[in-house]
Amino acid sequence: MNRTLSVSKTYFEDVKRVQNEIWQDIDVRDKIVIDVGVGESTKKLIELGARVVVVENDPQRIKELNVPIIICDFLNFPFQTRIADIVVFYFTLHEINPNFHASALSIASKIAPQVIIVEPFPHGCPAYEEFAWIWKNAMQSIGRFEEYKPLNYWETILKKVGFKIISRKIVNWKVNIPQEVLEDMVRVTIEDWKKKGVSEIWIDTLQKFLEKKPKMKWSDIAVIVGLFL
Ligand SMILES: C[S@@+](CC[C@H](N)C(=O)[O-])C[C@H]1O[C@@H](n2cnc3c(N)ncnc32)[C@H](O)[C@@H]1O
Repeated sequence: MNRTLSVSKTYFEDVKRVQNEIWQDIDVRDKIVIDVGVGESTKKLIELGARVVVVENDPQRIKELNVPIIICDFLNFPFQTRIADIVVFYFTLHEINPNFHASALSIASKIAPQVIIVEPFPHGCPAYEEFAWIWKNAMQSIGRFEEYKPLNYWETILKKVGFKIISRKIVNWKVNIPQEVLEDMVRVTIEDWKKKGVSEIWIDTLQKFLEKKPKMKWSDIAVIVGLFL
């Protein structure tokens, strides 16, 4: 096996390990789970046996998934009674205006007794911090949010809203992202940014970042489970 293939293999093994570590202590089987933001989390929740309902505010993101979908901004979620067991925010809260993070979690507490937050927690990898800074500015250029926060930020808001923290952990990546994976990701990102009207400055900055062939791991991931009784 050539070196590139073996690096990628190790990387894809790390992808699996990280996925497993995120979900391993969380029991969703047969539970009604509201997944705010459709994507990988939705597929994983289905695989884990959850009865998933998606809430998504971007109709373009809806793929053919055999689950009920409510298309709305979660901040305007139409139900305020306990209709589910768990609300999952998997890489979603950082896209919501920070002024409304507490509101989002308060809405979650009205519709389910349990909330799971999975969020990037960048620290300790300068290349990733630069990458995150470019993303944040690109999103700001179109009036959107991409704001990563430390684990204790989410804990503080959960407690303020009335949740008890029942578990918290950080999942770390062990392997750098192979250049070919990074190139693919940047290509798809730039296509998407162009459609969304992101300023050329940030598209150019992301391309220059890639040209430096950065040694980068994905961000650490904070996983927090809160209970609201
Ligand atoms: C980074 S993606 C993560 C999606 C998915 N959880 C996954 O694992 O791939 C964030 C998703 O949340 C959706 N989203 C962001 N803000 C939202 C809001 N206020 N209400 C509903 N969906 C929202 C976005 O449209 C996007 O599909």
